[in-house]
Amino acid sequence: MAIDFKHDILAPVAADFTAMDKFINEGISSKVALVMSVSKHVVEAGGKRMRPIMCLLAAQACGETDLARTQRLAAVIEMLHTATLVHDDVVDDSNLRRGKPTANATWNNQTAVLVGDFLIARSFDLLVDLNDMALLKEFSTGTCEIAEGEVLQLQAQHQPETSEETYLNIIYGKTSRLFQLATEGAAMLAGTPEYRDGLKRYAGHFGNAFQIIDDILDYTSDAEVLGKNIGDDLMEGKPTLPLIAALKNTTGATHDVIYKSIATGGLNDLEEVISIVQNSGALDYCRRRAHEETQSAIDGLNVLPESPAKKALYNLAMMALNRIQ
Ligand code: IPE
Ligand code: IPE
Ligand code: MG
Ligand code: MG
Repeated sequence: MAIDFKHDILAPVAADFTAMDKFINEGISSKVALVMSVSKHVVEAGGKRMRPIMCLLAAQACGETDLARTQRLAAVIEMLHTATLVHDDVVDDSNLRRGKPTANATWNNQTAVLVGDFLIARSFDLLVDLNDMALLKEFSTGTCEIAEGEVLQLQAQHQPETSEETYLNIIYGKTSRLFQLATEGAAMLAGTPEYRDGLKRYAGHFGNAFQIIDDILDYTSDAEVLGKNIGDDLMEGKPTLPLIAALKNTTGATHDVIYKSIATGGLNDLEEVISIVQNSGALDYCRRRAHEETQSAIDGLNVLPESPAKKALYNLAMMALNRIQ
């Protein structure tokens, strides 16, 4: 049966989710008008708000009944996420995000980089107010790892020899680490360290699945559905899992097309690459890996007592998988 976002995922924390928005709006306010308009541009474009929802649900699944402090943490998570997207679109030279022109396309790279910096700084500004040194430490270390993931990816750009192991290190840093912070942070605030490892496992594997799915969609979806352009990864010569798997599954001229596309980037061979990715079994492999990661994520939830929030976390992981069915 299809998972309904409002009913099957958001419902247990709907009121807290609405309240959290207040913190985000507070977070993006600035006395410098340009900072404000750029932040608003990105925040108001929406986004799925998956990470803050995960954070609120994780806290409730830990038994927390008053989510006032978790609302602030969830806002911090979404602001950090937004900042990474603003920076990412500069690095990837992308011009469409959340169905709107990116900050770099609307203003310019300089503006996007600096406002992205502001958003990271403001996230920590809000986090400090929670007055929890262990949490602050976890977030500062984690944020370093997120930055390292993006730099690792930059190093792999135009490198057709990139292994699946390196790919996994990249996506762990750039994507899964923030998912982990969302749930681990919730367990820390709730004062239930016994659930922290299980939640970390859930979020880490869910993040891996989510990024693999996103990388599949870059070859199979369209801008209308995604709110961002497809082919961006190929354009930038990024050795994502669909291409790594396609290289493994092919020989001769077909193999050369993929190899060369990664090495040079550009969209000249996009149609041929898409057809090779689809016909070589590479996509099937990626789908299988996404399923495996989702299963490992769900296993992580076993440590939690049964609750509507736990069920919602399960549904969230399953809904992400539905995007590639
Ligand atoms: C985009 O994340 C970046 C990836 C990890 C693929 P989302 O797909 O969650 O982005 P928004 O917030 O919904 O726009
Ligand atoms: C996701 O990277 C951005 C971060 C996790 C920082 P991608 O470049 O793969 O994601 P999209 O496709 O632009 O959202
Ligand atoms: Mg990127
Ligand atoms: Mg990108």
